[in-house]
Amino acid sequence: MKISVIGCGYLGAVHASSLAKLGHDVVGIDIDQAKVDLLSSGQAPFYEPGLPELLTETLAAGSLRFSTDMSAAQGATVHFIAVGTPQQEGSNAADLRYVEAAFDAIVPYLAPGDVVAGKSTVPVGTAQRLAARIEAVGAHLTWNPEFLREGFAVQDTISPDRLVYGVTPNDDHTVSVLDEVYASVLEQDIPRVVTDFATAELVKVAANAFLATKISFINAMAEVAEVAGADVTQLADAIGYDKRIGRRFLNAGLGFGGGCLPKDIRGFMARASELGAGDALNFLGEVDAINLRRRERMVDLCREVLGGTIKGARIAVLGLAFKPDSDDVRDSPALDVAARLAELGAQVRATDPQAIETSRRIRPNLDYVATVDEAAHDADVILVLTEWREYREIVPNSLDSVVAVRAILDGRNCLDPVQWREAGWTYRALGRP
Ligand code: UGA
Repeated sequence: MKISVIGCGYLGAVHASSLAKLGHDVVGIDIDQAKVDLLSSGQAPFYEPGLPELLTETLAAGSLRFSTDMSAAQGATVHFIAVGTPQQEGSNAADLRYVEAAFDAIVPYLAPGDVVAGKSTVPVGTAQRLAARIEAVGAHLTWNPEFLREGFAVQDTISPDRLVYGVTPNDDHTVSVLDEVYASVLEQDIPRVVTDFATAELVKVAANAFLATKISFINAMAEVAEVAGADVTQLADAIGYDKRIGRRFLNAGLGFGGGCLPKDIRGFMARASELGAGDALNFLGEVDAINLRRRERMVDLCREVLGGTIKGARIAVLGLAFKPDSDDVRDSPALDVAARLAELGAQVRATDPQAIETSRRIRPNLDYVATVDEAAHDADVILVLTEWREYREIVPNSLDSVVAVRAILDGRNCLDPVQWREAGWTYRALGRP
């Protein structure tokens, strides 16, 4: 099938190349010439495991190409809208300007029977509002949310947990077109939910709100554990054995960040308020607040271990990305903590396997170094703020002669306290004695 994907960021670039891999003839369209040039040469504009290989393979096979010219979408049967919906400046609400622009741009190239499939995360009611413009030219609108995780984006696209199609009632044409797009996904017996626009839009934000709530729940337990002298990781293990609760997304630590969870819960609250259901989501304000308090707690813990003074201390920061296997530092708890410590007068030396360049763009004044040894050189304390595998696997004694003081703070509960303490280090973590 001929497919266009409008917007080639994290979502669109992965979606376009995955659909090409699934056997379709795909054009990815973006207004950013530099991004299109990079993608056309088989390079991903961001770090995502498996994506460069997928790009190279599908570009070479001729099933994928990129363009800045919207007319390249003409002739495609399905047009996916995969542009960003960031948080509005000075408000909790989502900024829909890119979605609006994408719809403005695609309408002239639509033919009767074409399907426009929104993938962007939007406030409930957006699809209904946009449908008339699509229907006016005889095309069909669907909202088909995306649930991919950064770091697993290709796998999540080719083998998702579920597919959700939001369609107008009785729009069998759109359902059968999407079934054809996802034929090889559906062959894997992956569940498919066909529903209305509003439910499809809500599924996406509800899923992210649930995940954020799960993380903040365990981080709230960490706060209590800290004053009660309990261990939140053992608590998470123990409650996680209950299959109704489950252990996944119960890792206490610095909390959630990234380009999705924080802005999605805020946008969800803003939209619910507009609809008169704000009270129903008041708890998400608490989820957000618990999450942000973890960063402050990390700074406090650091101060405590340094004997009360951050100013002038030499602090090694390992990890800047919002999570491992990503170079994304949007709303990254790690980068935020590093910047706060620097603002408090510490001599911060930070490193990350992938996120130094992206961090530098937002925080140009931090001191970035390439390796753990450089960061830890003469340090008074080491902070592990993103749980990259190479940090989880550090052998304590390998740093004995590098640091000034053998002290490590585990912001992600990803190290073994026994191993570090037996090696003679001071080990402290969030939510643990
Ligand atoms: C999230 C959702 O997991 C995806 O399903 C969704 O499609 C995506 O947002 C989106 O809306 O596009 P992502 O932002 O890639 O995916 O990252 P997650 O794996 O959800 O992690 C989010 C944050 O939570 C990270 O900062 C991570 O470190 C933190 N986290 C995660 C915890 O603090 N504890 C946990 O137990 C799990």
